[in-house]
Amino acid sequence: MPLITGRATVVQKAILNAISEMSGTGSVGTLRTLNSFAIDIMSIRNAEDLFWYVARNVVGRLNFVDCVIYEADPATEELVQVAALGDKNPYGRTILNPLRIPFGEGITGRTARTGEAIVIEDLLSNQNYIPDTQPARSEICVPLISDGRVLGVIDSEHPEAGAFGPAELEVLSTIAAMTSAKLDLLAETERSEQRYRDLVQSHAQLSAETETRKALEAQLFEARKLEAIGRLTGGFAHGFNNLLTVIAGNLDLVGEHRVPPEVGVFLGDARAAADRGANLIRDMMAFSQQMRLVPQPTDLNALIAATWDRNQRAFGCEVEMAFEAGTWTVAVDPSATEIALVNLMMNARDAMEDRGTIRIETGNLVCDDVARRTRGLDLAPGRYVRLSVTDEGMGIPPKTLQRIFDPFFTTKVVGQGTGLGLSMVQGFVKQSGGSIIARSGPKGGATFDVYFPAIDPDVNESLT
Ligand SMILES: Nc1ncnc2c1ncn2[C@@H]1O[C@H](COP(=O)(O)OP(=O)(O)OP(=O)(O)O)[C@@H](O)[C@H]1O
Ligand SMILES: [Mg+2]
Repeated sequence: MPLITGRATVVQKAILNAISEMSGTGSVGTLRTLNSFAIDIMSIRNAEDLFWYVARNVVGRLNFVDCVIYEADPATEELVQVAALGDKNPYGRTILNPLRIPFGEGITGRTARTGEAIVIEDLLSNQNYIPDTQPARSEICVPLISDGRVLGVIDSEHPEAGAFGPAELEVLSTIAAMTSAKLDLLAETERSEQRYRDLVQSHAQLSAETETRKALEAQLFEARKLEAIGRLTGGFAHGFNNLLTVIAGNLDLVGEHRVPPEVGVFLGDARAAADRGANLIRDMMAFSQQMRLVPQPTDLNALIAATWDRNQRAFGCEVEMAFEAGTWTVAVDPSATEIALVNLMMNARDAMEDRGTIRIETGNLVCDDVARRTRGLDLAPGRYVRLSVTDEGMGIPPKTLQRIFDPFFTTKVVGQGTGLGLSMVQGFVKQSGGSIIARSGPKGGATFDVYFPAIDPDVNESLT
């Protein structure tokens, strides 16, 4: 990281200073120690390890009798003991009762207050000395400084007077300079890591918010689109229905007259076309939810069986039925339900290209929070009867699955599908207070689950 390079220069400067001073004294051993000190602290990852490393080396390799390191707490204006090595601390890295020294108090406190190193030749004649259980005769105290701020203090005592001279001061000041630079670097690293963590967190938050907003916008767009198409289709279907009624009525009137046989054939074709047009209009009105539905208490199992009886010749494929015994009665418009079922079965047959079996199932469902979640149901809590149509066809790819209920969406060739079948089924099911869900797996085949609200036994009477 460029930061490290920048800070390392400070450390290197300190070493170079020390080397030029040391070479005068000819202390090659000390020089080597400082050199390896500078290299070692490069890889130290936290302040605590750094303090203990410094204390261990000041005593172990630079031959000081002891070494105590304090960190400055600017909030309380105190020095707090963070590492200590020597006779006064025989417990390794454990400090049982860390000393706290107010800035300005005693020799270390003064160094913290002034930011200046202090060497005391004879402590007995110094009024600032606060003797402890093992009194010393001489003391050296150097500050850890960064940008003019005191970060802490390195302190060493000696049982003999006059133990510390300019050479010791130079060595310890060099150690202090390197330690301060490293402390700075650690703090900067921590700050940039924190900035990075904050950045990652706000990026994640922003992405989540954008995703949610996009999803909401898509939902809104879809709802508006359907509403607009619904209104348009409804208006168109209504007007066209009136025209068709006139056409069909007039065709019927002409048919009541005696006409040549060939004209009769033309009339029959025209009437059949008008009927197909009427069916189409009915689909469109159902999609736009304008179809007049007359809900009646209906036994779905019986309705399905009767629908199959009426239409089986048109289907040319196998149908298997699995009805749950005792399915609840539902309130639906029977002829609209039949049209919806035929639509689903025609789609199933088309998907199987006349091979395979269509399976029609029914079953009761109590829709609670769990069912809503696990089945992805968009239904009010309550009792429903499920009608499922499953086929063994080509299946529906995920992208197509998102669009199959869109009006005019079809994958069939021109002239074979209007793309209104499923949107009409969905419109009718919603208008009946139910829901429809399509499923399809990678292995092919598709299932359409339609949920119709069951009649509350208490209001059963009023519907019959
Ligand atoms: N069971 C199914 N298996 C595979 N694809 C299906 C199935 N049901 C519907 N689809 C897909 O959904 C599309 C839309 O179906 P929808 O019933 O609305 O229109 P259509 O069948 O294409 O035309 P129409 O119903 O007017 O004849 C179909 O074109 C097809 O791609
Ligand atoms: Mg269809």
